[in-house]
Amino acid sequence: MQQLVDADPVDEAATAPGRTLSGVQKKWLVYRGEQGFQPATRLEEPATHIAKFNRVDEPTLVQNEDLSLRLAREILGPDEITRAATGVVQGSEGIALIVERFDRIGDERLRLEDFAQILERPRGREFDGKYHSSYEEAASVVTRFSSRALIDVARFYRLVVFNLVIGNADAHLKNFSLLEQERGLRLSPAYDLLNTLVYPQYDRQTALAIDGEKRQFDQIDRAIVMALGLSIGLPARAVETALDTLRKRFSGPAALDFPPTLGPDDFRARYRDVVLANAGRILG
Ligand SMILES: Nc1ncnc2c1ncn2[C@@H]1O[C@H](COP(=O)(O)OP(=O)(O)OP(=O)(O)O)[C@@H](O)[C@H]1O
Ligand SMILES: [Mg+2]
Repeated sequence: MQQLVDADPVDEAATAPGRTLSGVQKKWLVYRGEQGFQPATRLEEPATHIAKFNRVDEPTLVQNEDLSLRLAREILGPDEITRAATGVVQGSEGIALIVERFDRIGDERLRLEDFAQILERPRGREFDGKYHSSYEEAASVVTRFSSRALIDVARFYRLVVFNLVIGNADAHLKNFSLLEQERGLRLSPAYDLLNTLVYPQYDRQTALAIDGEKRQFDQIDRAIVMALGLSIGLPARAVETALDTLRKRFSGPAALDFPPTLGPDDFRARYRDVVLANAGRILG
């Protein structure tokens, strides 16, 4: 683990006001104050949560991520997913996704390393390093550094397949991390889950390569994900069982049980269509 950089990915991504997170989507570090959530602008204020806001040009990101996290809790189990809820933050308009940081226990800060740091793929001048990899290479991080590698490679595999089924074309290296636990580094709870395919302007291909190339989502089928499972070292029976379990759980999840009044323009209608089509093809 010597080559790992000792940086805090959350603070590293910080922008204004005070301590926030970068990217195009506004992100603030916040904490629960006496009058609800407020930004942690001073160092003595505890940055216990990350608040993610909608973009003006994309007003459903927060709802999309909230829905994806709820769906993930149902499909992968609640302990596998970061805790989060929608809410408001003082000093900012509109709804936010307020994510509880899993790298803090009270004042104690746990070591958290995302896979781009571990693989030393920084943002380069030529390309964005977090997209310059494959799910096989990402799995090798788990194999090499997790203190429970067999369990965590299987967890990583289920998470990758979940991302493929929900149509997340942005599951890049920074969206997977190892987190310090009592007995060493483990694959962290899942975070930043989103159905990006509901936005027509977004990429239709996977963020990372599978078997040598980035895949168009509509070309991904059970054979491709089977082969991925085998190539990252899972036994054939474990892969079959994982895919069969996912197929069962994706048939009629409560999180996608929307009211019949849902209009066709509602992003949730498109969300469900994407998931049903992908689940049929990938898990079918
Ligand atoms: N629950 C959490 N606890 C601690 N750290 C977290 C948590 N969720 C996310 N992070 C860290 O914060 C970073 C940014 O969060 P997140 O990925 O949700 O934001 P994002 O802006 O949507 O990312 P992207 O760059 O993929 O668009 C992550 O890469 C991860 O290092
Ligand atoms: Mg992210």
